[in-house]
Amino acid sequence: AIDISKLRDQTGYITLDAGFKNTGATKSAITFLDGEQGILHYRGYSIEQLAEKSTFLEVAYLLIYGDLPSAKALETFRADIKKQMMIHEDMKNFFTGFPSKSHPMGQLSCLVGALSAFYPESLNPNASEEEENKTMINLLAKMPTIVSWIQKKSLGHPVVYPKNNLGYIENFMNMIFGEVNDEKTFDPVVIQAMHTLLILHADHEQNCSTSTVRMVGSSNANLYASISAGINALWGPLHGGANQAVIEMLEDIKNDGGDADKYLAKAKDKNDPFRLMGFGHRVYKNFDPRAKIIKKACDDVLEKLGVDDPVLDIAKRLEEAALKDQYFIDRKLYPNVDFYSGIIYRALGFKSDMFTVLFALGRLPGWIAQWKEMRDNKEPIGRPRQVYVGETIREYVPLDKR
Ligand code: ACO
Repeated sequence: AIDISKLRDQTGYITLDAGFKNTGATKSAITFLDGEQGILHYRGYSIEQLAEKSTFLEVAYLLIYGDLPSAKALETFRADIKKQMMIHEDMKNFFTGFPSKSHPMGQLSCLVGALSAFYPESLNPNASEEEENKTMINLLAKMPTIVSWIQKKSLGHPVVYPKNNLGYIENFMNMIFGEVNDEKTFDPVVIQAMHTLLILHADHEQNCSTSTVRMVGSSNANLYASISAGINALWGPLHGGANQAVIEMLEDIKNDGGDADKYLAKAKDKNDPFRLMGFGHRVYKNFDPRAKIIKKACDDVLEKLGVDDPVLDIAKRLEEAALKDQYFIDRKLYPNVDFYSGIIYRALGFKSDMFTVLFALGRLPGWIAQWKEMRDNKEPIGRPRQVYVGETIREYVPLDKR
């Protein structure tokens, strides 16, 4: 018989760090994050400056290629993306196959993965830089179209095609809210809010979905497959799914009489699985700089659109109470980026099950940039170790003797 204890000895020492709370997986030059001080930079630029001065596509370019684009480079980037926004008509077969109530994140991961079937050249792990770039542009171009088709299908409405005369965000919003023969125009505040929200979500170093993208890509899986895997990781309510969970929680509190303290008590009760959604973060232990920006954007958008959403008051009451509460102070739990984002998305007219899909749209450039960095650095296949704690060797017992 094999002596397992000897085998164990041969494996040497293994660092055990469940949840990778203190284990680095890579060196990266994309995003800098200081959780104690609440600092977030993309490629050296502060999130505050980018959210105020930049556009989403400029930030996408910055993340992927490393520098802010010149005016000419940006124009080419935009034009390349615009040309690829159509999706293959056969993709409609997938849409018709989904039950109309299926969750948008499930549809999105499936459809993004399916793009590889239409662009088989993307399967080549030794593709040239030009070919790889084409895949990246394809994803940035087609994802807004896919997302809008998911929304249209859920409403039973015909899809709206992308238009060459519109900017990236305008195109997206028109495909979502416009009608086939009726181009919709939007208040600049709405367009600005979309840029801000997508920029704030564009990258966040080695979070769960980004690590997934890098891990899947490390086996030389193609970019569509890697991004599709990242979308699935984002879906969970402890990660991107939190934005949908927050609005549902705020609705529940409202429908239950609006008593924020009652829910705060539930969140502190260790016998109750309830958590205050939109609170806490693995890395931010002081404040989430994105939450600060979003809270202000939320006030601006609601005021400009004349929307009076009662859940905003509940959110503010919860935040105020939590910030004074010893349980939350001791555990350094503060509102995260998704505490207020859902309130804005709702004011703009999105259904709550679309919120996480919007997060994915924002995170796409970050995922692409991280995948590219991993490939450019020729990182080895990701393969964590474990500490085995199961049975030692057992003698097989035939079925009739068990
Ligand atoms: N409500 C109540 N208690 C909480 C919360 C919360 N939202 N978050 C953490 N805690 C408590 C835990 O119960 C634990 O308490 P204990 O020490 O008494 O056992 C302590 O704070 C530490 O929590 P962990 O779960 O160990 O922290 P971790 O870093 O693993 O989790 C996470 C971070 C997943 C974000 C967590 O705070 C959470 O579940 N938050 C709610 C979901 C959420 O908003 N997710 C979005 C994150 S941002 C993003 O992905 C974009």
